[in-house]
Amino acid sequence: MRLDKYLCDALGATRKEATKIIKSGDVTVNDVIQKNGSVKVTDNSVVEWQGREIQKPGPRYIMLFKPDGFVCSHEDGFNQTAFMLLDEVKMEDLHFAGRLDVDTTGLVLITDDGKWSHRITSPKHKCEKTYRVWLADPIGSDYAEKLAHGIELRNEKMPTLPAKLEIVDPKENELLLTITEGKYHQVKRMFAALGNKVEHLHRERIGQIELDETLEPGEYRFLTQEEIDSVWH
Ligand code: URA
Repeated sequence: MRLDKYLCDALGATRKEATKIIKSGDVTVNDVIQKNGSVKVTDNSVVEWQGREIQKPGPRYIMLFKPDGFVCSHEDGFNQTAFMLLDEVKMEDLHFAGRLDVDTTGLVLITDDGKWSHRITSPKHKCEKTYRVWLADPIGSDYAEKLAHGIELRNEKMPTLPAKLEIVDPKENELLLTITEGKYHQVKRMFAALGNKVEHLHRERIGQIELDETLEPGEYRFLTQEEIDSVWH
């Protein structure tokens, strides 16, 4: 593909804008400044603008460590949005593959590939999500069994699908819960139905994609090809 076309597709720029950017001398291909838009770039080329890599045109897949206090939406009149943490072009094309509550932290996947995100969010595919949960009161000895059988939630016709509980630290009321659905406030409502209260909730895993431990709250990175492909398996 020509360099100018690459920039048009990747940045959403017009051909005229792409030509101007290239002529400025700020664009490198594999560390060599290129001022000619007709130069060819391949899948393996590293294209940078002002020292920052421009992702290849095509679908984007991002993992974000959502901090407390950010909402998963494009706009919010009150809170900061998780999109504010991204420094990317064509933001309007991106959406969340499953939201978190404003006070929930952890793994959020963001993409512009609707089929891919549907695979994660559609109840049909039963994609596992693992949450680290801290409860206000001790973990009941009957919780694992009740969660495995399904919990009746208020205003829901069907009980929840089987969920897996793993106690992490009983003194801190800390556990891991794996569910395959994504009902509104699901984890909080499940523990409320058991007579407890979620003090803090943190998502660690979606399918086979784990929150990268090197990310700080508010940081993000693009998924590896292996992580992207794992959603289809
Ligand atoms: N369940 C909840 O209650 N809240 C979340 O943010 C995610 C799952």
